[in-house]
Amino acid sequence: MTKPRLFSGMQPSADSLHAGNYIGALLQWKQLQQDHDAVFCVVDLHAITVPQDPAKLREATRRTAAQYIAAGIDPGSSILFVQSQVSAHAEAAWVLSTITGFGEAGRMIQFKDKSAKQGADSTTVGLFTYPILQAADILLYDAEIVPVGEDQRQHVELTRDLAQRFNSRFGETFVVPEVRIRKETAKVYDLQNPGSKMSKSGESENGIIWLLDDPAVTAKKIKSAVTDTERDIRFDPATKPGVSNLLTLLSVLGGSSIPALEAEFAGRGYGDLKSETADAVVAAFAPVRERALELLADPAELDRMLTVNAERADAIAGATLARIYDRVGF
Ligand code: ADP
Ligand code: NA
Repeated sequence: MTKPRLFSGMQPSADSLHAGNYIGALLQWKQLQQDHDAVFCVVDLHAITVPQDPAKLREATRRTAAQYIAAGIDPGSSILFVQSQVSAHAEAAWVLSTITGFGEAGRMIQFKDKSAKQGADSTTVGLFTYPILQAADILLYDAEIVPVGEDQRQHVELTRDLAQRFNSRFGETFVVPEVRIRKETAKVYDLQNPGSKMSKSGESENGIIWLLDDPAVTAKKIKSAVTDTERDIRFDPATKPGVSNLLTLLSVLGGSSIPALEAEFAGRGYGDLKSETADAVVAAFAPVRERALELLADPAELDRMLTVNAERADAIAGATLARIYDRVGF
């Protein structure tokens, strides 16, 4: 019995992933890999759609891969590889770009938002064609399931449209993937600005819990989290975003439900909530951090593992690319 193929990836855009990436992506990937034929990618080609420092990108790529493994992605049963090491991604993206409408690509909300922020002169064509590269990432592996956040829905829908268009124009070639939006997924917010999601590009360094932070730093950040002027510990993201965020972290990483935590903390203060949350986060992240640092201490072994995995990825992606090239007349 074959398991359904799943593809997902994250950009190596910082030295460390954060609590949002861990809870919103890695924890699920770890579970999903049990009953899926899972392919996880460090999407470094995507990372250069905004200006990059080459040495930092190389380091961030290795560190991101190490954190995938440290968080429980098994590079033996799943495939865990670096996108730029499999040349089919860029090649398939080129072909797909020739069946994508200019207006269609221009309707991508992420592009519109990012390019509006950057201005036309600093916006690259690479940022514009990014969703087409993402479509190639998914289609090359015949992925049936693509677990993403809501913000990526439109890109996976474009992927489906391109797959169907190619299939009807050139004959059955691609599996049309399904978007898997995980609604039940907890969102993690910035500890200092609990109205905004925790993000690598977040403004306040103290608001982000980095997976590779020293445990003492993690605890300190959580203990200095912004809350509110009330006293009651209730889950109510609209009016109590800071407290609700702490409850989310404690619930997901400590394993108690939110209602159970509300009952447990009835009549107790924010100080208690912060220190129990800090303990739960440190208990969850310290072993991940240690494992990641161990992997990073042996870069040759990590690179060897990534090379082996890139070869496994290439075997699948290369076969799909051959099919694509044959269909279009190469
Ligand atoms: P960032 O916003 O830090 O650049 P990405 O957009 O690269 O993060 O997200 C990578 C993955 O991590 C996605 O699957 C996304 O859903 C998840 N993720 C990112 N930030 C959060 C968050 N604050 N809460 C929950 N999940 C998150
Ligand atoms: Na982002």
